[in-house]
Amino acid sequence: MSKLTLTEVGTDFDQTVRLDDRHDLTLGDEDVLVAIEAAPINNADVLFAAGWFGVYPQVPSALGAEGVGRVLRAGPRADQALVGRRVLVLPTFQHGTWADETVVPAGHVVPVTDRADALQLAMLPVNPATAHALLHDYVSLEPGDWIGLNLANSAVGQYVIALAKRAGVKTLAVVRREEAAKRVRELGADLVVIDGENLGDRIAEALDGAQLRLLLEGTGDPLQVAELVRAVEPGGSVVTFAAATGQAPALPLPDLIYRGISLRAFFILNWLRDTPHEELERIYGELADLAEQGVIRATVEATYRLPEYREALAHAQRAERSGKILFTPGRAAA
Ligand SMILES: NC(=O)c1ccc[n+]([C@@H]2O[C@H](COP(=O)([O-])OP(=O)(O)OC[C@H]3O[C@@H](n4cnc5c(N)ncnc54)[C@H](OP(=O)(O)O)[C@@H]3O)[C@@H](O)[C@H]2O)c1
Repeated sequence: MSKLTLTEVGTDFDQTVRLDDRHDLTLGDEDVLVAIEAAPINNADVLFAAGWFGVYPQVPSALGAEGVGRVLRAGPRADQALVGRRVLVLPTFQHGTWADETVVPAGHVVPVTDRADALQLAMLPVNPATAHALLHDYVSLEPGDWIGLNLANSAVGQYVIALAKRAGVKTLAVVRREEAAKRVRELGADLVVIDGENLGDRIAEALDGAQLRLLLEGTGDPLQVAELVRAVEPGGSVVTFAAATGQAPALPLPDLIYRGISLRAFFILNWLRDTPHEELERIYGELADLAEQGVIRATVEATYRLPEYREALAHAQRAERSGKILFTPGRAAA
């Protein structure tokens, strides 16, 4: 039984991450034992290991926030109907999915379809749920409304574009390179703009009088935010979901005070904490069906086995990837 463990908080994963061949799989009364099929490496896992995330690691700490697998056994007070079911493992940052088998409280798994691709299912708990919440929890959007987003070629961006398109909501997508622009055009973004000189003017020209009801912001870069927010309607919302530059976003005072634009933020662990389990089952069930139908998907660049973790972690941190990196403990590497 193999599992990746963080032995020390830090960014040098060659030194701080270890592959354990034996680990404790004792089931608590309300736990389930899950054989992991696939589990992605997300930016949040890297931030967590570095000590820069909303949860600080208590080392030695299990790694891997999300994944998909099959329930092998259930503790006496867990739902026995879960045994044999394929489940999503929802993030806790305590019960690692970078393992061939892991013990998780039954309240942190959600049964899903057997028919969808394991890689796409493994990526559902964090990014598609984030996209769903960004589109539903801040502004009531109607078909024909415009939203804007940066990091538009990220997995989150790909899910936002697909879900918005399905709802008839139009997307202005901002990326930082031509290859990414091509990708989001193919995904169906209505307007695509590449970051750079006169970004705000180019966006205004592209929108041709339309205004954004919602701006989803992932750079944290106050200069880019100042350019993008010009396109947001008076009283509109900016929602921060990431800080790729490591900076904290800020709104220019005139937009904040005179135009009444609000700046809020989304954090997946707060959303999971505040959403009733039945509602999570409904939302993840819908997202799994959409993944099965191919309506939502994130591009995969590579998969790795657990013993290849050094290469996998380095690959996941490379800029300008074409897609996500996943561990596939329970299936042949793609
Ligand atoms: N708040 C939450 O609860 C929550 C939930 C889910 C995800 N997130 C965050 O959302 C972000 C996207 O996650 P993901 O898994 O979808 O990522 P991903 O697929 O790995 O994509 C990463 C994205 O970040 C862009 N990027 C990287 N460094 C950048 C920089 N310095 N300036 C501007 N853009 C930069 C990349 O652009 P290039 O392709 O051009 O390199 C790419 O678009 C991550 O930061 C993640 O931590 C937050």
